[in-house]
Amino acid sequence: MSDSAVELTPQEREANLDSATLAQLVGLVDYDETADPFPVTGWDAITFVVGNATQAAHYYQSAWGMELIAYSGPENGQMDHKAFVLRSGSIRFVLKGAVKPDSPLVDHHARHGDGVVDISLEVPDVDRCIAQARSAGATVLEEPHETSDEHGTVRMAAIATYGETRHTLIQRTIGDVTYDGPYLPGYVARTSSFVKREGAPKRLFQALDHIVGNVELGRMDEWVEFYKRVMGFTNMAEFVGDDIATEYSALMSKVVANGNHRVKFPLNEPAIAKKRSQIDEFLDFHTGPGAQHLALATNDILRTVDLLRAEGVEFLDTPAAYYEDPELRARIGEVRVPIEELQRRGILVDRDEDGYLLQIFTKPIGDRPTVFFEIIERHGSLGFGKGNFKALFQSIEREQDKRGNL
Ligand SMILES: [Fe+2]
Repeated sequence: MSDSAVELTPQEREANLDSATLAQLVGLVDYDETADPFPVTGWDAITFVVGNATQAAHYYQSAWGMELIAYSGPENGQMDHKAFVLRSGSIRFVLKGAVKPDSPLVDHHARHGDGVVDISLEVPDVDRCIAQARSAGATVLEEPHETSDEHGTVRMAAIATYGETRHTLIQRTIGDVTYDGPYLPGYVARTSSFVKREGAPKRLFQALDHIVGNVELGRMDEWVEFYKRVMGFTNMAEFVGDDIATEYSALMSKVVANGNHRVKFPLNEPAIAKKRSQIDEFLDFHTGPGAQHLALATNDILRTVDLLRAEGVEFLDTPAAYYEDPELRARIGEVRVPIEELQRRGILVDRDEDGYLLQIFTKPIGDRPTVFFEIIERHGSLGFGKGNFKALFQSIEREQDKRGNL
């Protein structure tokens, strides 16, 4: 490993990832955080508000192979809600559901349905980030404060981003002491009564690659500027203009990333087209902007997709024409498995000057046609599958049409 290898977070070390593996999985780059006005180490946790956290926690364990590690709820003095913390590799999901009928989570869920409420980021210095965010005009939802339990202390704050989504900023090391509880103060360690089937793999995905945000018509550039101005993020190369797929659910998309590229946010806005776009549908059913999909990185997408399908997870269909198109085949070139293996599973391929990627998208995971997952396996490409937009939109459109929203 070279001297410039990216330093791993405790979560990544616990997941037995090394920096070379991680660099391939999510396209990490080395960077100097001392010059960054808003240094971000990486993802801390993704919090979902759901209608029934007790059952959702089971689903993410049984279907997605995640492991229950912590809990907060009435049994440990948190009367308002239940929250289950699940892990796969270096990813943490927190699933939160209301217990009290007058919990603010009830209103939130009524407005948005199941979805992402908080994209928490681990930062080395909360106060520095908040000072920068405030001077750049961000809305500070929670001032920096400390919370402690017998495992130590964390310092945290929160800023608002698109819609009702927030970024909680979490500093787990104060001085040279790192918090060593199962998640955050207020949570207790919890293991599950759910037992994996014999022979089931330890995990189906290792890291979180990117989270896409859908924002209102005409506001994509504003949010791109927000991440640049407030959080020091930079543009990544991929840009999708409304010229890409005018016939099919048009959208525009730009990507911003933090210094080390652990955190990548493509931002979409709908574009005017003949038909109502998938972004319009999301904005209607989510009631405003929100996180559209989370891309989970794996080093074996074939196995991951097979196991997810075996547990009943549904993916978007890819038209046979996609694999039979000679132009596409020529552009894809050689990938690590025969195209037929990809076709059998509906896995998409995209290639750019740096390499290629394999990807597939699930259907929406809740009742509303809003949030879904992507599974991604990178081989050098730092892109997001721009070449697949058209094939993908045709597929999404068929689903949208079945729901009568096209
Ligand atoms: Fe994606």
